[in-house]
Amino acid sequence: MSEAKRLAGEKAVDYVEDGMIVGVGTGSTVAFFIDALAKIKDRIRGTVSSSEQSTKRLQMHGIEVLDLNSTGPLSLYVDGADECDPHKRLIKGGGAALTREKIIAEASEKFVCIIDPAKRVDVLGRFPLPVEVIPMARSLVARQILAKTGGQPVWRDGVVTDNGNVVLDVHNLSITDPVGLEAMLNQIPGVVSVGLFARRPADIVIVGGEPPVVY
Ligand code: 5RP
Repeated sequence: MSEAKRLAGEKAVDYVEDGMIVGVGTGSTVAFFIDALAKIKDRIRGTVSSSEQSTKRLQMHGIEVLDLNSTGPLSLYVDGADECDPHKRLIKGGGAALTREKIIAEASEKFVCIIDPAKRVDVLGRFPLPVEVIPMARSLVARQILAKTGGQPVWRDGVVTDNGNVVLDVHNLSITDPVGLEAMLNQIPGVVSVGLFARRPADIVIVGGEPPVVY
């Protein structure tokens, strides 16, 4: 599995062009991308990072990390996913970095998603859907998610996001209308963001393998 992640992460470097500021996601697949990016770091202007974890790895390689407020729109965002359907819609947030990931995806012209083959599904929802929530709204949001979707929200106990919030993982969903569900969950007061990337899906998916599959 980690070999497939490495192959996907390394392939994503093909999309990096000279002078770019690159949006960088979070996770073990992205760690391989960061390591590969380090080899061409002199060709890029810098990066925008989606988490403290990725910032640490980027800086360890001597790659500059910039503030999204000072860069303007980005040409490229590279990130992993927990699930990916045939329309390139994703579940993300297994690493609890979903909110900053969503912000950078929105700011980017091209979103290249790097996954191993196990992440491919026909219908999203086998992986519990992460929802980032303001701490005081945790129980309210959990009750509303149960009532509106029938899914079972489980508090990711002990996890605090980089934004100081908590995560609910919603189990037993079969997500046949990802765009509708994303919009509906976004309306619940206290929800910061939903780990469904359906309204803004990936543009290109790289599935790690020998050779990688790109679609
Ligand atoms: C972090 C994410 C990750 O992209 C997702 O969890 C995949 O991680 P990995 O590459 O380690 O399998 O969304 O919030």
